[in-house]
Amino acid sequence: MKKIAFVLGMTGQDGPYLSKFLLEKDYTVYGLVKRYSNPNLANLKFLGIENDVELVTGDITDDNCLNHLIKSIKPDEYYNLAAQSFVGASWDLNKTTSEINALGALNSLNAIKLHNPNTRYYQAGTSELFGNSGNDMQDEDTPFQPRSPYAVSKLYAHWMTINFRESFSIHASNGILFNHESPIRGKEFVTRKITDGVAQIKCGLSDKIILGNLDAKRDWGFAGDFVEAMWLMLQQDEPDDYVVSTGTQNSIHDLLNLAFQSVDINDWEKYVETSPAFKRPAELHSLCGNNAKAKRVLGWEPKTSFKELVSMMVEEDIKRYTK
Ligand code: GDD
Repeated sequence: MKKIAFVLGMTGQDGPYLSKFLLEKDYTVYGLVKRYSNPNLANLKFLGIENDVELVTGDITDDNCLNHLIKSIKPDEYYNLAAQSFVGASWDLNKTTSEINALGALNSLNAIKLHNPNTRYYQAGTSELFGNSGNDMQDEDTPFQPRSPYAVSKLYAHWMTINFRESFSIHASNGILFNHESPIRGKEFVTRKITDGVAQIKCGLSDKIILGNLDAKRDWGFAGDFVEAMWLMLQQDEPDDYVVSTGTQNSIHDLLNLAFQSVDINDWEKYVETSPAFKRPAELHSLCGNNAKAKRVLGWEPKTSFKELVSMMVEEDIKRYTK
């Protein structure tokens, strides 16, 4: 019998990468998409899987809808990747962010508990939980100090996942993922904003990239590598929580250097400006994940270097402008 996976967040970045990975493992993959007259399937198309997944219409904020879908799909594995995932927007959209990220997780866990308690649950957690921890590296024991409405909403989902695991023996795991990027990353995130901007500059379509805080440091990996860790968590006998990261840190300056170098531009400073419009009310300065537990228990390792990731993204953006 083929295993059945239900992936929420199907039109984002991680849903399509995870679905491709699961299809290659011979799963039947159902994906939740919100009801639009024209749902945006561009990321599924980019990976060539738009006809291979079963798309179902629904909304994570609607508990009736999830109850009905769990009853009918009876998934072996449920991946909650649905989110208002842009930290920068979460101050203005604090209620929407909470409804989707926090109560959406609760709706999911309740639906599983009530209608198919053997479904294994993956919760998309985040390194944003750590805030400005003061540690050079963060691991599963680092205290949480969320600094954005986004992070606060994800903290609720994190603890609710643990609560369902402890209270009702649901196989529910949290992946505490550090930043992960790809050619189908949304252009509002800093990596893709930069690679898209560099591609436009290279193609003569623009002469500026306007950014916010250039001093931020992050642990950036490739989304295509990270989805394997999500799956591995649900293959373990016992559910647990894992940091998933590359263990290396880069700054936005490093990102700019590599992106411009990949198109042979060395004087990038003249193309970059900053604006307060892209700064956040509370910033998170430095993140770097210790992935020792994921390596030891899951046997997971990141495969793509930061340099390869940036080159891949710039290359794909250039292709889009030169087609
Ligand atoms: N988006 C954006 N745009 N960020 C900028 C800009 C800009 O113009 N200029 C500087 N930055 C800085 C942000 O202030 C932040 O410190 C850093 O670049 C990264 O911002 P994002 O790419 O928006 O990602 P994020 O770290 O806030 O959040 C991402 O990673 C989290 C995991 O750590 C998202 O994917 C979250 O959903 C995810 O949980």
